[in-house]
Amino acid sequence: MTTLTPVLTDTWDKDRSWRLATYERAGGYAGLKKALTMDPAALVQTVKDSGLRGRGGAGFPTGMKWGFLPPPDGGPRYLVVNADESEPGTCKDIPLMLASPQHLIEGVAITSFAIGCDHAFIYVRGEVLHVYRRLLNAVEEAYKAGYLGKNIQGSGFDLDVTVHAGAGAYICGEETALLDSLEGLRGQPRLKPPFPAVAGLYARPTVVNNVESIASVPAIVANGADWFSSMGTEKSQGHGLFSLSGHVTRPGQYEAPLGITLRELLDLAGGVRAGHELKFWTPGGSSTPIFTQEHLDVPLDYESVGAAGSMLGTRALQIFDETVCVVRAATRWTDFYAHESCGKCTPCREGTYWLKQVLHRIEDGAGQDGDLELLVDLCDNILGRAFCALGDGAVSPITSSVELFRDEYQAHIDSHGCPFDPSASALFPYTPKTRTPGTLAGAGAGGH
Ligand SMILES: Cc1cc2nc3c(=O)[nH]c(=O)nc-3n(C[C@H](O)[C@H](O)[C@H](O)COP(=O)(O)O)c2cc1C
Ligand code: SF4
Repeated sequence: MTTLTPVLTDTWDKDRSWRLATYERAGGYAGLKKALTMDPAALVQTVKDSGLRGRGGAGFPTGMKWGFLPPPDGGPRYLVVNADESEPGTCKDIPLMLASPQHLIEGVAITSFAIGCDHAFIYVRGEVLHVYRRLLNAVEEAYKAGYLGKNIQGSGFDLDVTVHAGAGAYICGEETALLDSLEGLRGQPRLKPPFPAVAGLYARPTVVNNVESIASVPAIVANGADWFSSMGTEKSQGHGLFSLSGHVTRPGQYEAPLGITLRELLDLAGGVRAGHELKFWTPGGSSTPIFTQEHLDVPLDYESVGAAGSMLGTRALQIFDETVCVVRAATRWTDFYAHESCGKCTPCREGTYWLKQVLHRIEDGAGQDGDLELLVDLCDNILGRAFCALGDGAVSPITSSVELFRDEYQAHIDSHGCPFDPSASALFPYTPKTRTPGTLAGAGAGGH
């Protein structure tokens, strides 16, 4: 069995794991001290060589993103950490910031030094007030210890960090909507190009990275690129947080090399809850096409999950056993996407509204013949036509569940409602169809 690789999670079980002293006792800030002796360009190269890919969902190579910044022109350049984590099922950044915020702050300091930034921002989801407070305290501790502020560790490098609480909108996790929100505007995606690397926050060169991406940097600098790339697969290197939730015996964060399978993770997590069996699951959050038992041995790396018809996304593994109605699950997810659609573009604004109407009438027993074709047609008119990836993500659970569980949808139409009564402990016996690789429309946002 693949063993776990606790790096970000290493100190989570320690007393007061969130305090700077605990982090330092475990070797924290060795990466920053080493980084400050290095040439910034060499730091960027180290992260490129490590193979670290963005942990926010899309998997874009982190070092390459840093390398896109134009040469310094004397004006400001910014690092913005995306801590908006709002996708259903995605729950890794919030525990990380709660349990060990200094991992992120050290990563912010190293990244800022590497890209020539003297003011970094952490944009945290507004509802998680406890995380916001913890981050504020952690930043204060780091200032007092000389890891932030003026002349950090006597190096001459200055850095200020601002923690900003959003107002609780999923779309503000999309990087350009986040930048608009941070500037005080309504959070809606910007037209790209220009990309943030060229014109980001306040129209200045900006790197936007996920919490886990930035928190992974200190160990890469301290231990070297080869150490990181020795974990994982050839093209998906390193360790990552796999979040198991739902009908699993021991839900939680499992930090493991990319390429581990759900079967291995379930072994570590005590399996699907006793007396039940796996029906379907998401590999990367609700915006990634669902998988079934058939996919238990798919290596959870970007390439293998993509080849099997879904996306690795945020490694949010939501486990659903046979007691769950797939129509109900897809309808709840669609409620979320329709609610969170920012309204900027027609395919998503109108399309998610209509998807919601059709799914609800199927669930409520008023489904009509032709509704499944209508659903798929609506999805086809959103996928690839929406302004940002939220629209693509919204259709993923629907197209994938209709493909894999069409009989279960049809039974809702034929029986004028859900054919089973969960309160009577009746199970949902529909067995999924086998997916033909590459046939699935609706690769999702891969964001959260
Ligand atoms: C609707 C939507 C929501 C997103 N939410 C998040 C989020 O909460 N956190 C995040 O890191 N990325 C999120 N993303 C992806 C970001 O746009 C961006 O790709 C990411 O922050 C880049 O960081 P990385 O390269 O380190 O992964 C979201 C994307 C979309 C379309
Ligand atoms: S796809 Fe949806 S969330 Fe994205 S810009 Fe269009 S309406 Fe807004």
